[in-house]
Amino acid sequence: MSRLAFTLEKESPGSKARAAHFTTAHGEVRTPVFMPVGTQATVKNMTVDGLKAVDAQVLLANTYHLLLRPGPEVFRKFGGIHRFMDWDRPVLTDSGGFQIFSLPESRVMTEAGAQFRSYVDGAVHFLSPESSIAMQRAIGSDIMMVLDQCIPSTASHAETETAMHLTHRWAVRSLEARGDSPQALFGIVQGACHRDLRQQSAEFLRALPFDGLAIGGLAVGETHEQRYEFCGLATDHLPKNLPRYLMGVGTPIDILESVHRGVDMFDCIIPTQLAQRGTAFTSHGRIHCRRGIYKFAETPLDAACPCPTCTRYSRAYLHHLTKSDEVLGWHLLSIHNLSFYTRLMAEIRASILAGDFLAYYERQRVALVREDE
Ligand code: GUN
Ligand code: ZN
Repeated sequence: MSRLAFTLEKESPGSKARAAHFTTAHGEVRTPVFMPVGTQATVKNMTVDGLKAVDAQVLLANTYHLLLRPGPEVFRKFGGIHRFMDWDRPVLTDSGGFQIFSLPESRVMTEAGAQFRSYVDGAVHFLSPESSIAMQRAIGSDIMMVLDQCIPSTASHAETETAMHLTHRWAVRSLEARGDSPQALFGIVQGACHRDLRQQSAEFLRALPFDGLAIGGLAVGETHEQRYEFCGLATDHLPKNLPRYLMGVGTPIDILESVHRGVDMFDCIIPTQLAQRGTAFTSHGRIHCRRGIYKFAETPLDAACPCPTCTRYSRAYLHHLTKSDEVLGWHLLSIHNLSFYTRLMAEIRASILAGDFLAYYERQRVALVREDE
């Protein structure tokens, strides 16, 4: 039995988009949902009150970073991440597979797991499917991810197949290591840009007792067309009665296109990372606050946005703060960008429930890609 009681509410006519909800130990999640990234048990430049103010439903945290610092003992002492960071809503933890893949040459990958050096103090660590689950149990996340082997999306068929089979064996070991923990566990479909392998991976994983399934290995060097193609191919082979999570994606347009292809959950650093570079998403496209044209602008970032940044501050003030590298500028832009993302998800969900997602999709796919007006 799934630990999340996933309930499909509505499927869209003419699209694979769906609205659903599921239940965790820290409350209900309504999908499609965007999960802000809180790698280090903090979403950059945000307070938990700010995250609640912008209606963040779930946060993503990273096993890899939290294992190295502060380490499992701190989480065990606090009884988990929720009390540690004073966040009482759901948390999803990524397994560390993606971070190990992004490391320099120092890692050694074997059947047992991956050996690597800590970026904090150079100490040698070993991450296996079992030790990743043990760390995620110490963190106490509501949803855990299996340790997987990520490879570039351009990898050959032979290399991809070898990595995929290792990921499948690790998925089985992760389920065993989860045991009777009440925490949910998601499998991760791999297979790079090879149609037969993506299908094989989805079919292998859907036969196992996971509480949800993720699509991994995308947004790592492939074209947008390939990303959408392989996302749609994966969802064609995933069961309807489990949540589907597209890992590390993406821009507003990527999210819209992926919802259209049947994805329920997303995470991405883009809204918080771009905030730190002075870039804001608006209903008319992106705005780069550092540009001189905003020096005297009395208008808000986005007149249609109800967020605290837009109701209180001008573009001129945000231009000044970002030009001066002031922390408040990053904070105010993060509030706005995350609010833009959660509102986009709420609008998408409302349009699915109303039965007119397709019309919303056609309108938004034009509006979302514009740059500074
Ligand atoms: N984040 C983005 N892509 C991936 C992936 O393929 N695997 C994992 N574990 N995390 C990711
Ligand atoms: Zn705003």
